[in-house]
Amino acid sequence: MTNKVRKAVFPVGGLGTRFLPATKALPKEMLPVVDKPLIHYAVEEARAAGIEEFIFVTGKGKSAIEDHFDYSGELVAQLAARGRTDAIEELQAWLPAPGKVAYTRQQEPLGLGHAVWCARHLVGDEPFAVLLADDLILSAEPCLKQMVEAYGEVGGNMVAALTVADEAVSRYGILKVESQDGPLVRAAGVVEKPPRGEAPSNLAVIGRYILVPQVFEYLDRQERGAGGEIQLTDAIDWLADKAPLHGWCFEGQRFDCGVKAEFLQANIAFALAREDMRDELQAFLRTLPDA
Ligand code: G1P
Repeated sequence: MTNKVRKAVFPVGGLGTRFLPATKALPKEMLPVVDKPLIHYAVEEARAAGIEEFIFVTGKGKSAIEDHFDYSGELVAQLAARGRTDAIEELQAWLPAPGKVAYTRQQEPLGLGHAVWCARHLVGDEPFAVLLADDLILSAEPCLKQMVEAYGEVGGNMVAALTVADEAVSRYGILKVESQDGPLVRAAGVVEKPPRGEAPSNLAVIGRYILVPQVFEYLDRQERGAGGEIQLTDAIDWLADKAPLHGWCFEGQRFDCGVKAEFLQANIAFALAREDMRDELQAFLRTLPDA
């Protein structure tokens, strides 16, 4: 079994009802932050971390995601007719190589663990990454790249981790923290969405994972966890006494793009991080009355 993390799973089957009407005909993962869809950022991040194969777990109404990552002869022809070779090169640069992208459908919305389990045959017997496109991270070094580097030393299962307020613990997987060495946290397990007051810590799982294929042994059982769903967290917790579990307190600012206000903040922060937009946006923000 290789220890290199070569494959990434992107669960993109969710309905996105919180963003209706925007998501009635548009997959929520296609909502743009500045000029790129959320899923585009996730794929870019995976590629920056050395990922070579991209596995999407989709659902009904998600074909725009497949089109986005597909070659478009029509668009290339139109750009060529306008002499836009720069734009053509840019497009080609981020398209997954032929045969390096796969799509499978999660037929029923049975939870994140179930979505990842749907990719088991495509993943095979090697460690793999999972990226949740809703969790968008602005950082100098892409979050998954930070994790892959640390993972080389420790193996096992690793999750991105972020300290959250007491009132937020019930929205996340929460780590049972054992010890901490800089950004690397050793955990004895993880519990999905504990009620406030029952959480083992304030260290929450954010949507970046590096997992060993043994998680599928647990997911094969199809056991229901919090909210009646098959939880990825439960598989990770089950494995915690069989393989080391670590949280990685990443450098960067995380936006929960499933929440409207944070989606808007992400747009502003990502635009301010871009040289071609910063000055104009800053000038506009200065014209706004103080809140
Ligand atoms: C999922 C996971 C949870 C994790 C969160 C991060 O929850 O189940 O453990 O903390 O993503 O965003 P969801 O947001 O899908 O409810």
